[in-house]
Amino acid sequence: MEKLSIGIIGAGYIGREHARSLRLVRPMFGDRLVIAAIADKNLEAAASAAKDFEIERFTDDVNSVIDDPSINVIFSCLPTKFHIDVIERAAKLGKPIFFEKPFAVSLEQAQKVNEILTTTGVPNQVGFVLRYAPTYHALKKLLDLRAKESPLRTIVLRDDQMFPIKGISHFTDWRSKVDLAGAGVLIEHGIHDLDLFEWLFGKVKRVSARSNNFAGYEGIEDYMEVRLEFASGVTGNMVHIWHDIPAHQSIRHFEIFFHKALITLDTYDMHHITVRDEKAEAKLERPDLYQMIVNEPLFKDLSNREDMLFVSDYYAIQDYWFVRNLLEGNELSPTIKDGLRAFTVGSACYESAGRDGEWVNV
Ligand SMILES: NC(=O)c1ccc[n+]([C@@H]2O[C@H](COP(=O)([O-])OP(=O)(O)OC[C@H]3O[C@@H](n4cnc5c(N)ncnc54)[C@H](O)[C@@H]3O)[C@@H](O)[C@H]2O)c1
Repeated sequence: MEKLSIGIIGAGYIGREHARSLRLVRPMFGDRLVIAAIADKNLEAAASAAKDFEIERFTDDVNSVIDDPSINVIFSCLPTKFHIDVIERAAKLGKPIFFEKPFAVSLEQAQKVNEILTTTGVPNQVGFVLRYAPTYHALKKLLDLRAKESPLRTIVLRDDQMFPIKGISHFTDWRSKVDLAGAGVLIEHGIHDLDLFEWLFGKVKRVSARSNNFAGYEGIEDYMEVRLEFASGVTGNMVHIWHDIPAHQSIRHFEIFFHKALITLDTYDMHHITVRDEKAEAKLERPDLYQMIVNEPLFKDLSNREDMLFVSDYYAIQDYWFVRNLLEGNELSPTIKDGLRAFTVGSACYESAGRDGEWVNV
């Protein structure tokens, strides 16, 4: 594409995050990138994002942005139930789409989204932002190194998050409503991990899961434990928790056991990896992680941009690559294929949880 003129649909938490990221990367593309409009049914939210991130136009009329012939790329940032409407309308007009995860409230709806995007053939990218996080690229390097020394035994993940219907960054409550969110912590937050696990460790063969609903929002599980068996025979365990502990940071805590090494990773606001083996314990902090990945193709052109390569600014890195790949005519990644795959593994977890943890093949 010669020039991108972007319309952002949704000016809540993630719509603002994309507006901020696109504003940050805009100078790197000159006049080939325009953030043309932002729409939200809450006009004040749209106006405030437009002001904060120098967006040319704001409106409460979503369709007027999607239909605007001068806008040729759409970002879908509405609550989960509504992505399909935005995707369908934009895809029919042939406009490339960036859409947020989990992008559907049921497997049937996810399959419909896949059908729309594959039949129209529009370039598309799903918001699995962790694929652009330098921390996980550093982790992938370490995994490859350690796998040469001894076999991978098992992976343990605890992913916890303050119940995202209030608090510092979440002011809205749609995540407590099953018709808008589809389900709870696994599909809304853990879907990132379902995608990440296959990216890091290979195909999942079957899952066994149990869920619980402590807060009592109907259909919204706030606890999900998943046992995974990979095609390689390796096993893993994930626990996803939505809690109400304001003093506790949200943390993804990984323990990855090789026969002769243990890699521990804590991420969210902080990023560090610890590697223990028979000889020593090494702690890798942000600058060490930065050094490990700075020359990789995904990061090297950004290495003089400290604000971008600040290890946690993976939203900006993700949006930079979305824009650059579209402008250069490259494939986008990850796409609806990856989105549907993670959604399918997630659905198998819900199916298993509904049958008291019975193993379900995926
Ligand atoms: N990739 C990530 O890390 C990430 C992070 C947060 C949210 N998300 C996803 O992004 C999506 C939005 O989440 P959020 O946290 O930004 O929610 P949010 O509640 O903060 O923002 C949603 C916005 O949509 C507007 N809205 C709601 N219904 C609308 C409609 N029918 N028409 C027009 N505007 C409407 C609301 O006024 C609100 O401003 C969800 O699918 C969520 O799962 C992804």
